[in-house]
Amino acid sequence: MPEFASLPPDFVWGVATSAYQIEGAVDADGRKPSIWDTFCRVPGAIDGGDTGDVACDHYRRWPEDVAMLRRLGVDAYRFSVAWPRILPDGTGRPNPPGLAFYDRLVDELLAAGIRPFATLYHWDLPQALQDRGGWPARSTAEAFAEYAAVVAGALGDRVTDWMTVNEPLCSAWIGHLEGTMAPGERDLGRAVHASHHLLLGHGLATAAIRANAARPAAIGAVLNPSPIEPGSDSDADRAAAVRADGHTNRWWLDPLFGRGYPGDMIDTYQVEPPVRPGDLDLIAAPQDFFGLNYYFRQLVVDDPTGPAPYARQIPVPGAVETAMGWETHATGLEQLLVRVAQEYGARSIYVTENGSAWYDEVAPDGTIEDKRRTEYLEEHLAACAAAAARGVPIDGYFAWSLLDNFEWAYGYDKRFGLVHVDYPTQRRTMKASGHRYAEIIRAHRQGVVPG
Ligand code: IFM
Repeated sequence: MPEFASLPPDFVWGVATSAYQIEGAVDADGRKPSIWDTFCRVPGAIDGGDTGDVACDHYRRWPEDVAMLRRLGVDAYRFSVAWPRILPDGTGRPNPPGLAFYDRLVDELLAAGIRPFATLYHWDLPQALQDRGGWPARSTAEAFAEYAAVVAGALGDRVTDWMTVNEPLCSAWIGHLEGTMAPGERDLGRAVHASHHLLLGHGLATAAIRANAARPAAIGAVLNPSPIEPGSDSDADRAAAVRADGHTNRWWLDPLFGRGYPGDMIDTYQVEPPVRPGDLDLIAAPQDFFGLNYYFRQLVVDDPTGPAPYARQIPVPGAVETAMGWETHATGLEQLLVRVAQEYGARSIYVTENGSAWYDEVAPDGTIEDKRRTEYLEEHLAACAAAAARGVPIDGYFAWSLLDNFEWAYGYDKRFGLVHVDYPTQRRTMKASGHRYAEIIRAHRQGVVPG
């Protein structure tokens, strides 16, 4: 049985979700389309033709979901605010009913003794801003700061923990280079420009939150690094691993921690990020914490004809794979935590997402014995504890996800929840993994080893 005693006594135990993946109600109360509403309409873009139109109907069922958080006994809940509910046209006049939704949610969380961790951008860019150039345009980073100021002004008297951008890698590389996420582009030049404006957006939003929140704010960006290993000992595969590390990890970590963009990657892309004087200082403004999302490591081989960074991921021989086809590799989480602390000097780290999708079975009595998700959770918490024992300042862990939800291009087939959602009825049922998480949290609080 894993031992979590090396995690600090005030360790923050949480779960995470994001707006488009759970809220539904896409045209309620003045919300206008985001790029994901548009992308879901592209034939073949989403498995099964699924959309976020209804999702978990959280926009209407949120009290039930807060009750589920209470049952889990978490200290904190990480959710994202939907930009298209707050500024439906991307900029301009705020939409009061949109703000009121998060107002109520935050009040209910606080009444339940649960600390709200608010993410400002989890991929749902207002379509109106996409029509004006999207993230490849600098004006989108400026619009993001305007939106951050509005949300911080409205919620910053109660929310003290903020995350600016979530996994900008996915927005830039998957959305603009690989094309399998919104907005579905395949253009390296635009992808590099998008990457810079997402990071600049983080910097500008950080300043906007500090200027507009009524209470002192703890602010961080959320990245999704992966450990990268070469698929063989050949020079070509080793060089591919260095490029893949640059693409996935250093391109994001280096500027956030004050090192600017890695020169070897500018050479690889043959595209200069559109940096203006002062941008790199804004991006590297001190963060109060670093948000780390972890799912898998990458084994890569040289791929000169593929898209940048000309490195292709290959399956890990003998790997135990989740329903996403991702290897379960908890040691990778420990390695990344140590790397971010030692190589980049992060002084406070939250694991802001970690979790796994499996094909769950609902037993005739309605229970869900998701043994593999439970094992995954325990192994990754043990990796956090191992990192803490090595001196990594890890301050909390947010399991992905509270609920089964809309898994982007994979639709509803892939279930990450600690709580099962029966989509036709919207009935929520705590899975065995959720019960186990609650038990671990209780035991850690009481200072005992969970049985
Ligand atoms: O569901 C996503 C989430 O939106 C961002 N991080 C990875 C999760 C699992 O793919």
